[in-house]
Amino acid sequence: MAPATSSRYTPFLLVLLLSAILVTSETLIKETHMTFYLQDWVTGKNATALPVAGRNKTSKPTDFGTVMVIDDAVTAGPKRSSPQVGRAQGTYVNSMLDGTDVHLIFSIIFTNAKYNGSTLEIQGADRFSLNQREVSVVSGTGAFRFVRGYVVLTTVFFRNLNAVVQCNATIRHY
Ligand SMILES: *[C@@H]1O[C@H](CO)[C@@H](O)[C@H](O)[C@H]1NC(C)=O
Ligand SMILES: *[C@@H]1O[C@H](CO)[C@@H](O)[C@H](O)[C@H]1NC(C)=O
Ligand SMILES: *[C@@H]1O[C@H](CO)[C@@H](O)[C@H](O)[C@H]1NC(C)=O
Ligand SMILES: *[C@@H]1O[C@H](CO)[C@@H](O)[C@H](O)[C@H]1NC(C)=O
Repeated sequence: MAPATSSRYTPFLLVLLLSAILVTSETLIKETHMTFYLQDWVTGKNATALPVAGRNKTSKPTDFGTVMVIDDAVTAGPKRSSPQVGRAQGTYVNSMLDGTDVHLIFSIIFTNAKYNGSTLEIQGADRFSLNQREVSVVSGTGAFRFVRGYVVLTTVFFRNLNAVVQCNATIRHY
């Protein structure tokens, strides 16, 4: 009987079609690795990170409850004078009672020729007393639409509340 035969083949064709779609979308996903440096200068000349709220007037970024607003340079190398590739704009909030974690919520807005105007949205727990920690790349714009990934953070300099943080980003996008 013809109808019986065709329904027996239907699941097979469906599986074939679905795997073709999966293979196609899999090969469209690109993985990109990037290294850049966050210049978080809180004290001294040309500070780019500002405490805007806290428990009292003397609150520092290392005190629980302090809210920081940042417009930090993002550079190609660890030196403050090394070429700028973008800006990190947004906030971080000290959100651990003993003061050892800041919650990051900011955009990296690229200004270099390759990704000019594209952004990565960063969010996560930065337990800065650890040598290495990981935060999320939750999304992006421009060249990074639909992006997802993570950033491994390593502090390469920390003095007088000023920090230079190496950011190794691994992102998947189309
Ligand atoms: C601060 O900015 C001024 C003007 O751009 C610059 O001349 C100076 O070298 C900067 N100082 C530091 C410590 O970055
Ligand atoms: C201000 O807050 C810090 C913690 O953020 C605390 O250590 C300090 O004692 C407070 N100072 C006053 C005068 O309340
Ligand atoms: C990035 O774009 C802005 C305008 O959107 C432009 O002024 C600037 O020159 C561009 N920078 C690079 C490196 O292409
Ligand atoms: C970050 O990437 C650089 C190369 O771009 C590498 O030398 C370094 O070891 C990486 N750091 C971590 C913590 O993976």
